[in-house]
Amino acid sequence: MIDETIIAEAVQARVQASAPYSGFKVGCALLCATGSVYAGCNIESSSYGLTMCAERVTLFKALSEGERLFTRMAVVADTRVLTPPCGACRQLLWDYCSDLEIILANLSGDRLQTTIGALFPVPFGRPFLDGKS
Ligand code: THU
Repeated sequence: MIDETIIAEAVQARVQASAPYSGFKVGCALLCATGSVYAGCNIESSSYGLTMCAERVTLFKALSEGERLFTRMAVVADTRVLTPPCGACRQLLWDYCSDLEIILANLSGDRLQTTIGALFPVPFGRPFLDGKS
């Protein structure tokens, strides 16, 4: 069953998105093994490359509060085709959450439940740096 509670947290977080350049608002929520939920939104810069996606804002909020074990993430945007995390976010989610469950949702009630492993099938990661790959 889809976790509608975490989707509702992401919908609420999306309201705070600061997206004056793209107009594309994204909300995200991350459920941790501790039971805590962290939520975030995208924050854009006039120097476009400094923009931070909702997924990374949310992950960094949780990590900076000491969270290390993650259960589930929800990502919400107002698109007909459900918005997936960008490549950079997939790398970070793989690094810190391994095969996290991820729910993509929109404001029309469409949902897709998947995993980071499915979205990022041939990942770079720590084993390469440790000489184990
Ligand atoms: N964005 C996210 O926050 N998450 C995604 O999954 C895709 C893209 C943001 C970054 C930027 O502020 C805007 O959406 C357009 O790329």
